[in-house]
Amino acid sequence: MDIEAVDKSYKRWAPIYDNTFGRVTGAGRRRAVRYINTREGSVLEVGVGTGLTLPEYEPHLRITGMDVSREMLEKARAKVTAQGLDHVVELRDMDARKLDYPDDSFDIVVGMYLVSVVPEPEKVIREMARVCKPGGEVLILNHFKRESGVLAVLERGAAPLANLLGWHSDFDRDRIMGVPGLELEESTNFPPFGMFTFLRFRKAG
Ligand SMILES: C[S@@+](CC[C@H](N)C(=O)[O-])C[C@H]1O[C@@H](n2cnc3c(N)ncnc32)[C@H](O)[C@@H]1O
Repeated sequence: MDIEAVDKSYKRWAPIYDNTFGRVTGAGRRRAVRYINTREGSVLEVGVGTGLTLPEYEPHLRITGMDVSREMLEKARAKVTAQGLDHVVELRDMDARKLDYPDDSFDIVVGMYLVSVVPEPEKVIREMARVCKPGGEVLILNHFKRESGVLAVLERGAAPLANLLGWHSDFDRDRIMGVPGLELEESTNFPPFGMFTFLRFRKAG
């Protein structure tokens, strides 16, 4: 998917996202936020979308969100205003392939259901690592391609629909592995059917 296709797709998704894809993927998102709430400091959520996580973060954290879709961000901004979410310090319109933050800026950098959507995920994970502080964590929550079983067949069948769906159903996890300075500390699968995976990397330093 190129960036125009992403923009077009999420313009369509924005009005219905929370009650469709957002609802189905809630368990993994809650798991990731539960972990982040045990940490301290600043968090960058890359591809924050409609901001479904924003009300769930504990107020001791400082949350920054960014997304390339203005329509998705508008939904996130509406949540911040309506619910008075003072721990959300900034929401910005930006391309994750070129994050407009200095090196070593955030304690935690997280991308939920992002890497199978963005063009050039290899570039995005490197950018996430760059803006993470040494000793900080880069967290990824996503669905990754399976090699066998019924779900693998369904994933392959849905793969040509990427532009329509707004994500790649058969995303290969290896595309975001092996970033210099990022060490994988945890990989956990979640229901339904272990479809979603939470990856926790630590940046050296
Ligand atoms: C499936 S949604 C996930 C949204 C949110 N993280 C969640 O858990 O609900 C994927 C999001 O990634 C955003 N996105 C895709 N490509 C991007 C890019 N290059 N830079 C920033 N955001 C991007 C889309 O606009 C969309 O909001």
